Amino acid sequence: MSPVDIATIAKNRKTCKAFDPKRVISAADMERLKSVMIDSASSVNSQPWHFIIASTPEGRSQVAKSTQGASAYNEAKVLNCSHVVVFCRRIDLSNQHAETILQQEIKDGRLKDPEAIATSRKTREYYFGVHRDDARDANGWMEKQLYLSYGMVMLAAAAMGIDSCPMEGFDRAVLDDVLGLEAKGLASVVLLALGYGSSDDFNAKLPKSRLPAEMMISSL
Ligand SMILES: Cc1cc2nc3c(=O)[nH]c(=O)nc-3n(C[C@H](O)[C@H](O)[C@H](O)COP(=O)(O)O)c2cc1C
Repeated sequence: MSPVDIATIAKNRKTCKAFDPKRVISAADMERLKSVMIDSASSVNSQPWHFIIASTPEGRSQVAKSTQGASAYNEAKVLNCSHVVVFCRRIDLSNQHAETILQQEIKDGRLKDPEAIATSRKTREYYFGVHRDDARDANGWMEKQLYLSYGMVMLAAAAMGIDSCPMEGFDRAVLDDVLGLEAKGLASVVLLALGYGSSDDFNAKLPKSRLPAEMMISSL
């Protein structure tokens, strides 16, 4: 794919405000998107995420319990999209998780000699400690990692002709409760509705609006 193509895809991508409930993303395309989700980069390969995908009316209704009251403007998107993904972070940033990653890296053939393994363990545990114990910003740090995957999935979906609606407008506490996330060591962060826009998607007909590039980008 040329750089021009990817810029055009980014230019044309818009938040979908109304989904066609009759159109479903194919299983093959969902597999591609799942792959993109977990292939995102993350600091020290921390992968502090989990993705819960609701693709049935029952699953979407469960998620929609968190789009009531002040977030009711998002309810129809959750109910009518093809798949809604709950992007979750871990509730702890433990050395046990660091060890799980290390063992996977060994299994995947990235680390062979004991010295490299020890250095890798020390580096990751150091950074986990910085955020967990020193800066005490582990939750925010994990959410930053999660948003990298989030952006990748949105762009990938657009490249595949799939519409998406990013949503912070939902009640995290309600969703955590409905899905029993705390017991799974997880907390919800952000939702991504995926599917195909309907004729009611007003945003598709509006021009895209961004501040001028010269205000946002400078050179040295
Ligand atoms: C993290 C994030 C959260 C958002 N939350 C919502 C939301 O709850 N509901 C909604 O309709 N749009 C939501 N949006 C969409 C933004 O309003 C939209 O991306 C922005 O206005 C730019 O428009 P565009 O995506 O069409 O280019 C969200 C976007 C992002 C990136």
